[in-house]
Amino acid sequence: MKNLEPLTLTNIDQTEEDKALQEKVISAGSIPNHIAIIMDGNGRWAEDKGNIRLFGHKAGVESVRDVTESCAQLGVKHLTLYAFSTENWNRPSAEINGLMKLLVNSLQNEAERLHKNNIKLVSIGQIDRLPDTCQSKLQEVIDLTKDNDRLELCLALSYSGRWDIIEAVKKVSKEVQNGNISPEDIDDELISAHLSTADIPDPDLIIRTSGEYRISNFLLWQLAYSELYITHTFWPDFRRDELYEAIFSYQKRDRRYGKVKNGYTKRLSQAVINKIIS
Ligand code: IPE
Ligand code: IPE
Ligand code: MG
Repeated sequence: MKNLEPLTLTNIDQTEEDKALQEKVISAGSIPNHIAIIMDGNGRWAEDKGNIRLFGHKAGVESVRDVTESCAQLGVKHLTLYAFSTENWNRPSAEINGLMKLLVNSLQNEAERLHKNNIKLVSIGQIDRLPDTCQSKLQEVIDLTKDNDRLELCLALSYSGRWDIIEAVKKVSKEVQNGNISPEDIDDELISAHLSTADIPDPDLIIRTSGEYRISNFLLWQLAYSELYITHTFWPDFRRDELYEAIFSYQKRDRRYGKVKNGYTKRLSQAVINKIIS
């Protein structure tokens, strides 16, 4: 069994029960290298309590902290959080405004803790569409944490999978136009290398909260072979215990990548094949 590497800060409030649970998760099977999460249901969580939607977004920050730190403790190396989509710009301006202010505040409040926990922050998406205050605070925390290597936390902000693919296609077209590559050189690897996630491996596990069975323009290319876990829990109620459930579920999956089950050895003679298909 792998040894748990305790985090200095989170360890202060980590219960013995949680430590034991994490040990169970680690010994139950492989830990996903990259988890991506569609953090959905903040608005409904707040409305169910008779509050306005922004309370849900605020409460969701607690889930981000808890899930991020437990991922770091478990040895997950990449965590990508879908925080704001391209389509979310179509929401009422008051909500967008609130979300952007919340982003600045959260980055401000969490920076030191992220850094002390050896977590590196990166982002993907149309960052230049964010208000200046968001862009500069984001850059500040990215710079602060750039040499950390325990967990890479990637925030998808003003992100959409189609945008990502369109940008990659533009870059590849320019390289063809400049004569650096020919159309025949275009393959899986080349496209992956031109996406905003070029330095990040594809997600092993994708979690969506709030019970919606859709991808909502998240990492369209990258999740070709990711395992899906959908829960009805709203994001502000999603904490580490449910993350462990998602990982337990992942550990039971048989990732076949289009092949037959691992260990399947039955051979068929040509005569048997002909008999079956005739
Ligand atoms: C997810 O929660 C957060 C963002 C998309 C910014 P929602 O705001 O979508 O909450 P619901 O899905 O309407 O409940
Ligand atoms: C997806 O949630 C985007 C984020 C979690 C940031 P949405 O609430 O925007 O997705 P739809 O509208 O339900 O598909
Ligand atoms: Mg939603």
